[in-house]
Amino acid sequence: MEMGFLSGAERISLALRSLYASFGYEKYKMSRFEPYDFYAENRSFVAGDNILTFTDTNGRLMAMKPDVTMSIVKNYRGGEVRAVYNESVYRDEGDLGEFREITQIGIERIGTIDSVAEAEVLRLAKLSLAELGEEYILDIGSASLVLGLMEATDAPESAKSALLRAVNGKNAGLCDTLCDRYSLSGDTASAWKTLCEVYGSARDVFPALKKAALNDKMASAVDELKAISENIGDVNVDFSIVTDLRYYNGVVFKGYLRGSHAPVLSGGRYDNLVRSLGKSAGAIGFAVYLDSIGAENAQSGVVRIALPKGRLGEKVYDIFEKSGFGCPEMREKSRKLIFENESGGVSFFWAKPSDVPIYVERGAADIGVAGSDILEEYRPDVYELLDLGFGRCRMCVAAPDAFEDDTSRPLRVATKFPNIARRYYTDRSREIDIIHLTGSIELAPIVGLSDVIVDIVETGSTLRENGLRPFETITDISARLITNRASYKFRTSAVLKLKKAVEAALSEG
Ligand code: PRP
Repeated sequence: MEMGFLSGAERISLALRSLYASFGYEKYKMSRFEPYDFYAENRSFVAGDNILTFTDTNGRLMAMKPDVTMSIVKNYRGGEVRAVYNESVYRDEGDLGEFREITQIGIERIGTIDSVAEAEVLRLAKLSLAELGEEYILDIGSASLVLGLMEATDAPESAKSALLRAVNGKNAGLCDTLCDRYSLSGDTASAWKTLCEVYGSARDVFPALKKAALNDKMASAVDELKAISENIGDVNVDFSIVTDLRYYNGVVFKGYLRGSHAPVLSGGRYDNLVRSLGKSAGAIGFAVYLDSIGAENAQSGVVRIALPKGRLGEKVYDIFEKSGFGCPEMREKSRKLIFENESGGVSFFWAKPSDVPIYVERGAADIGVAGSDILEEYRPDVYELLDLGFGRCRMCVAAPDAFEDDTSRPLRVATKFPNIARRYYTDRSREIDIIHLTGSIELAPIVGLSDVIVDIVETGSTLRENGLRPFETITDISARLITNRASYKFRTSAVLKLKKAVEAALSEG
């Protein structure tokens, strides 16, 4: 049949539906809306901060579905279910508080989930990726292995969440800092570090993972991952994809296509969700994000590096040049925006410092350099490869010398970093009123706009000259080398080669 009138996403949707049908998955049609209460009662499982609601003609508060799996589990009445769905969900994603319609096609298996059932779903994930593009990667990780390590870790829950964040960002530096701060034992610290660093084929990573297993839960999770990868073949093990431990309890997986900056497929074993919704069964499934297909970045053969304009970026460029990756043209005065060193396999462009993580997160640059203040503020979905150790300063709470906190009212905080300020004061249960400014923050308390500021202090001279002083240090700041998640996966050796070159140049001083 001639199918030329179909869009790419429509063609893929048809192909996937017929693939799933051939494995016995039956179409699951659900109502377009759910009562809002359903999500309010299960808030922790819902992606995004807000849910799109409306009042129906009977006066009931309804929600546009933010998630499909929850509805399927809610309607599960026992037995073996193989369901396929093709639905839109509505989520508030991004900084602007706008809702997006996301079209998903996915499958769910609910009932008795043994290793054969798991293998079937993972095989379907792989076949789905093959349908989406020629070059794809399927990564697998294990929520139960991470949960096992958390049980073996003698530290407060907040420290364990921070350690998981280090694993999610492949941030070995943060992992070391946290292990030191909480005086974790050598075995525990090296197990966390292993989870931060391992990436690759089962054969390559299992010796390290076996060594990292500190209890039975971890050991059996390692065996399970090994069995899955032997069964499915050609998958990479990666713990940076293990994010939602309330939802998932076993194997988790994500699929990437060459050129797309974010995963196009995501799934896992989610008995935890089933249990939380009052049902008793095993469950595993995945969703394919149809909207992200066809929006791949133009591919170039070189590794693209985004540098922050200014002194910091120039210093980093010097390092690349010293390591043999320079572009003489970068030193010339011109209006050229992109500079390429073909033989070195790299290209550079300058960007506004706070924009660098956006270029990297969205895959327009493979590698970038950004201050940890910006990374902490926006928490972009990137990997942090290296602390460059320069551009050092501190994020502080500062105020006029005579400042005393009046706890009978909200503290007025002026800042360029509203997320950092909010998290800091939320941890201290202090109610604040954020005044978001874009520069010359020191002015705010002087003219009575705020009580304190949350801002960067480098030499401290701006504060001193204006009769202010730092009261608390929120965090130390330095420049970091970051990389796009998909670039790391598709260009692992090129990215790691650059990281090593920078590391070597730094240690030479
Ligand atoms: C930063 C920061 C402080 C100043 C601190 O400002 O916001 O104002 O540097 O440096 P110091 O401790 O060495 O005095 P930036 O120069 O980025 O400009 P801005 O005031 O426009 O934010």
